[in-house]
Amino acid sequence: MADTPNIAVLGAGVVGMTVAKLLQDELRHCNITIIADSFKDDTTSAVAAGIFRPGTSFMGPTDKATKKWINNSWYYWQEILKSSEAPQAGLMAFSSYIFSKTHYNVTRNHLIEDLVPIYRAVDKNELALCGDGWKYGSYFSTVKIGCERYLPWMERKFIEKGGKIVVGKIESFASLPEKYDLVFNCTGIGAKFLCNDHSLVPMRGQVIKVRAPWLKTAFYGDYDTYIIPGFDGIATLGGVRQYDSYNLNVCKYDAAAIMERCCDMLPALKKAEIVAHKVGLRPHRVPVRVEPELINGVKVVHCYGHGGYGVMCSPGTAMDAISMGLDLLKGNAKNKL
Ligand SMILES: Cc1cc2nc3c(=O)[nH]c(=O)nc-3n(C[C@H](O)[C@H](O)[C@H](O)COP(=O)(O)OP(=O)(O)OC[C@H]3O[C@@H](n4cnc5c(N)ncnc54)[C@H](O)[C@@H]3O)c2cc1C
Ligand SMILES: *[C@@H]1O[C@H](CO)[C@@H](O)[C@H](O)[C@H]1NC(C)=O
Ligand SMILES: *[C@@H]1O[C@H](CO)[C@@H](O)[C@H](O)[C@H]1NC(C)=O
Ligand SMILES: *[C@@H]1O[C@H](CO)[C@@H](O)[C@H](O)[C@H]1NC(C)=O
Ligand SMILES: *[C@@H]1O[C@H](CO)[C@@H](O)[C@H](O)[C@H]1NC(C)=O
Repeated sequence: MADTPNIAVLGAGVVGMTVAKLLQDELRHCNITIIADSFKDDTTSAVAAGIFRPGTSFMGPTDKATKKWINNSWYYWQEILKSSEAPQAGLMAFSSYIFSKTHYNVTRNHLIEDLVPIYRAVDKNELALCGDGWKYGSYFSTVKIGCERYLPWMERKFIEKGGKIVVGKIESFASLPEKYDLVFNCTGIGAKFLCNDHSLVPMRGQVIKVRAPWLKTAFYGDYDTYIIPGFDGIATLGGVRQYDSYNLNVCKYDAAAIMERCCDMLPALKKAEIVAHKVGLRPHRVPVRVEPELINGVKVVHCYGHGGYGVMCSPGTAMDAISMGLDLLKGNAKNKL
């Protein structure tokens, strides 16, 4: 390995920032440059509520890898949560109800039931907590990561430790500004346009950010309805999940439907002030791609395609990507390529 490897991380969303920072912590001597065309509030990551609750279809290359990503991510967030920096980092612990009118099982979650401190079925009284007609439900404790705080916090720490940031769009490998010993590809849905990964599909999401400082618990209902508390009293109301849609404009019909579904659950939201409407394209791919590749002789580790779960799972996937990257640098990963 070169004494001071020159490393580029493409992408400054939650995945790129986490890869860059963890890598910096791991390597004593290295030059790491983050290259991206959007940062902080302009990324998909900043649209997300950032709740730690994987969809049951979230999938790595194997069940074992999936579980490992989720487990490592959970403990990464717990570590920050228990530190004095938790609020600056955007970490918040709370509990959530998930209700359904049709099936008990859709309120279960085999990926986190044994991981989070509480995951249990609700009782009759709880079913009557919000809205009418809920038949089934579960209650669980979890955390959320507010990217509006996490991304600036990580960026500050990264720069303090000598990390560099370059603003720019990368059209192809040929347009990388210099020669790098290793490149991490954390471009989210951008990976689709960099070349042709046909298995990466945008899953459009839209949310409403409202002022609801009284809200301390998250609620999920059927049809992708969710209400998630956040920092500064700003809650996230959702949502939609539109497969293969590239529309980045706010759709007023989606907004109306989201508002109606959420107000059915919690009528108090009717009077909440709307702070913003936001749209993002979840980089959906089955499985999520965390994989080394030699492209025109350049050592690349891909880390993209986290779909609707990239905030919660960024640390676990970053750890795997980094260990693949270090193997590549040491030159002992030939058999894996
Ligand atoms: C409505 C909604 C709700 C969500 N809720 C949650 C949730 O509760 N929990 C959760 O875990 N996840 C949630 N997600 C999913 C989460 O937002 C994504 O999985 C995550 O943001 C993906 O992060 P990323 O870093 O891969 O991508 P991004 O945040 O999109 O970052 C990609 C980065 O790559 C850069 N880039 C791309 N292409 C290029 C290029 N050619 N040249 C230079 N730079 C480039 C971009 O500028 C950007 O900096 C939600 C998503 C949406 C839309
Ligand atoms: C790496 O950074 C150091 C100082 O931080 C600098 O002296 C050196 O030239 C850099 N190397 C490369 C390859 O950019
Ligand atoms: C989960 O991660 C923690 C912390 O990294 C580790 O100590 C523990 O062994 C892991 N558990 C499983 C089941 O992988
Ligand atoms: C619900 O899950 C349990 C345990 O995983 C399974 O045995 C049962 O068949 C499921 N029920 C339905 C209706 O899918
Ligand atoms: C990132 O991944 C995509 C999908 O495989 C690929 O087309 C693109 O060339 C990669 N870009 C870089 C710079 O690694």
